[in-house]
Amino acid sequence: MALYVIGDTHLSLGAEKPMDVFGGNWEGYTEKLRRGFSVLGEGDTIVLAGDISWGMRLTEALPDFRFLSEYPGRKILVKGNHDYWWDTLSKMNAFFAESGLDDFEILHNNCFLYKDIALCGTRGWFYEEDRGSNAELTHDRRIFLRELGRLEASLKAAESINPREIYAFLHYPPVFRDFYCAEIIDLFAKYGVSRCFYGHIHGETQRWAFEGTYGAVTYSLIAADRLGFVPRLIER
Ligand SMILES: [Fe+2]
Ligand SMILES: [Fe+2]
Repeated sequence: MALYVIGDTHLSLGAEKPMDVFGGNWEGYTEKLRRGFSVLGEGDTIVLAGDISWGMRLTEALPDFRFLSEYPGRKILVKGNHDYWWDTLSKMNAFFAESGLDDFEILHNNCFLYKDIALCGTRGWFYEEDRGSNAELTHDRRIFLRELGRLEASLKAAESINPREIYAFLHYPPVFRDFYCAEIIDLFAKYGVSRCFYGHIHGETQRWAFEGTYGAVTYSLIAADRLGFVPRLIER
């Protein structure tokens, strides 16, 4: 029984956007993921922290879910900015049930337990989402507040079960270079989050990624290309 995490698998088995075109370590990434995911065993849990599949709809993402489902263990899904297939919770759960996939769970306004650790999360917020005009800023502010609400709902759900620790899984980094998302960091402090895992940052820009302790939270970048396409073991 172990807990793993990986972000940004960017699978494209049912879509036309393979990441190999970016070259470098993305070349042959599906095969690398195939080898990497072989670390998973029965009874394990893996959190997939966004940018899971390039599929535009659930049906287009199905080959990617089937790929992931070949590996044992529970898969907890967090939304990334490229997960266009993401739908309402009821539609996603119905789709998984109809497709005979019983190993996927959606982390969205809720939390899950791994032993006595609460697994919380949401997509999060990043400065890339900030735009130029006032009208757009108002719109972005709404999205931002919605994300904060989701994170707090997830953390509240954790608080109610009194876990030993709370881990937060976000797609976007709350801390990056000179970007600090004070509202998210404040929520981490308010609810006693001890570790934060995030993805989204790729390639060259990974040198600006913050990894280490800020406040009482230890941050880790777990984008697949950072991890050599092998899920990171968090707890055993
Ligand atoms: Fe990504
Ligand atoms: Fe992303």
